[in-house]
Amino acid sequence: MHDVHSESESIHGRVVVTVIVKPMENITLGAEVTGIRLADLAPGDWARIYDAFLEFGVLVFPGQHLTEKEQNNFAKRFGETEQLSPLQKGPSVPISNKKPDGTLATPNDQGYKLLRGNEGWHTDSTYMPLASKAAMLSAIEVPDQGGETEFADMRAAWDELDPTTQEELEQLSAYHSLYYSQERAGFKHTTDNIYGLHDKGAPLRPVIKKHPETGRKSIYTGRHAYGIPGMTYEQSRVLLDKLMENACQSPRTYKHKWTPGDIVVWDNRCVMHRARPYDESLPRILRGARISGDPETELAETFEDQRAEGFLPSQSNLSSAQN
Ligand SMILES: [Fe+2]
Repeated sequence: MHDVHSESESIHGRVVVTVIVKPMENITLGAEVTGIRLADLAPGDWARIYDAFLEFGVLVFPGQHLTEKEQNNFAKRFGETEQLSPLQKGPSVPISNKKPDGTLATPNDQGYKLLRGNEGWHTDSTYMPLASKAAMLSAIEVPDQGGETEFADMRAAWDELDPTTQEELEQLSAYHSLYYSQERAGFKHTTDNIYGLHDKGAPLRPVIKKHPETGRKSIYTGRHAYGIPGMTYEQSRVLLDKLMENACQSPRTYKHKWTPGDIVVWDNRCVMHRARPYDESLPRILRGARISGDPETELAETFEDQRAEGFLPSQSNLSSAQN
């Protein structure tokens, strides 16, 4: 039995239900949140939403139809937003296969390669010095079939491991690189210093992350992780692949089928996600915002990335291309 969390308040003697949080059935993460308009939150609603975000890891808000400004304001409640492109003006950016000239991205476009790469399980910005806290997407135009976003609960995956494996994994770290993950997805990139394809080096991050707010442990690797120090390249690859394969299974996964107007937010500190394939001759237009991690807990030292052209260690995610 799954319970429905609701909060009500009395206004002039009338009970008004504000936030309804309905956990996904038979899945360890995710909840659907209704009964509110994110553009017009009543006092107390935000605290309830943030508590649910920490508890469920993924929140789905159907039928919100937020304007860009409304989504930006909602994103800013979670913290500082990341600058994902030197051209980015506000907190959010289009996540879309439609190019500014109106045509759809093709395999030669960098954007196409990055969108396709995102079909592998990952958590955002781990290849940057400062990894991400959270991210959100809203749906504008989506294909009828495919193009879903799928999420996996890395807290529950950790809980499933036997104590000996847990102890072993807690000793390990891995480097993270977008060049690496894109290469494995079949795409080569040059160092353009826009975002991720930088010369800042590859951050070295613990394989197991303790959530800075809930204290729960989770597997923190994904497609960008490689090269565990103390192992051969091959041993490391086999271990990391197996870890993800076992972790991203039912009942720990939720696949979100988009309807225009939906907004989904997730906790990048304990949840993996991936895009699902779709017919690339059709537009898929989402709007995304990424929230910066806390330097106390999400900043990592970087080391030379052999795949990048050059190495200028940095603690900043800001692109050198925008200076
Ligand atoms: Fe992502």
